Amino acid sequence: MAMQNISFDPQAFRAALGTFTTGVTIITTQTEDGSPVGITANSFNSVSLNPPLVLWSLSKQARSLPIFSSGKHWNVHVLSTEQENLSGRFATQGEDKFAEIELDNGISEAPLLQDCTARFQCRTAFQYEGGDHVIFVGEVLAFDHSDRAPLAFQSGQYALATRKPRSELRLATTPPPPECSYTEDLLGYLLGRGHYQTLNALRQLLNSQQLDEQSFFVLSILCIRDDMTLEEINTFVTYTGREVTLASMRFLERQRLVAFEGPAQSPRFVLTAQGREVSLHQLALAKAVEEDLSAKLGAADAQALKVLLKRLIVVSDPGLPDLWAPR
Ligand SMILES: Cc1cc2nc3c(=O)[nH]c(=O)nc-3n(C[C@H](O)[C@H](O)[C@H](O)COP(=O)(O)O)c2cc1C
Repeated sequence: MAMQNISFDPQAFRAALGTFTTGVTIITTQTEDGSPVGITANSFNSVSLNPPLVLWSLSKQARSLPIFSSGKHWNVHVLSTEQENLSGRFATQGEDKFAEIELDNGISEAPLLQDCTARFQCRTAFQYEGGDHVIFVGEVLAFDHSDRAPLAFQSGQYALATRKPRSELRLATTPPPPECSYTEDLLGYLLGRGHYQTLNALRQLLNSQQLDEQSFFVLSILCIRDDMTLEEINTFVTYTGREVTLASMRFLERQRLVAFEGPAQSPRFVLTAQGREVSLHQLALAKAVEEDLSAKLGAADAQALKVLLKRLIVVSDPGLPDLWAPR
């Protein structure tokens, strides 16, 4: 077929194509002498339900081209968000891609990777010329899938797919009254409300231990990094707008959760064994709240929310020291 040779700016063309968000797959096969072969590909797509057909395209530059072209079977693995490293590994030439990877038994000799979101075991049905790529169409002989969240790829970067429900909060779509420009879609409002509602669930659990939020905060900080002065503890608390006082440390001492050490003018604070136990119990409560919310949001959306919150923390960080950094 004669093609018109329109000269595009290749970078702009790539960038435009990259806006089409895809999943990420690894496609595997085997050489005649039995060596496993695989590459990362996001050109995968469904073609037909009946007969069951899928396709993907392979660059003519790929070292694996002759193997895929002459092989009969290949497996498509839809990667989960946990498999980003695997994607990188199978996209890099010269790596021993299958080192220390455990495989499942499939219906052909093509390697079958574990822990994926979905897998399609295929036999080549057709091969087509596709410019600088070869298009492989495969008949699906077997498939399976799990509820692991799929890894996404957009504009040259890994991404997370988040569900976008048709109706979120009533709030976001209702216009504010004309005399007031506040909307319930303000980031600060959403964060604040989410924070307090989440904290409230935890607070109810804490109340049963007769500890307040401040004590929860101090105990969890000391559980991560023990043996600090009041000043040091406060460097990890000031972003909340509160201050831990000597009086509140005395309260924890009376409860036998914290011990004072060193000179009386500048004591250092350490968790007692009981304090550590209470703190670990609080952590379990916090995890129970998280599990409940995760189940309601769905594991994938909970993960996406965490990614976005971490980005928000970075962009709004007032310069907090790293609580988890080794001393
Ligand atoms: C997210 C992602 C998607 C990719 N999709 C494709 C693809 O669809 N087809 C392709 O030929 N290469 C694709 N690549 C590049 C190949 O994975 C890479 O060139 C690989 O090293 C080829 O392996 P080989 O030369 O050892 O066969 C992709 C890479 C990444 C990171």
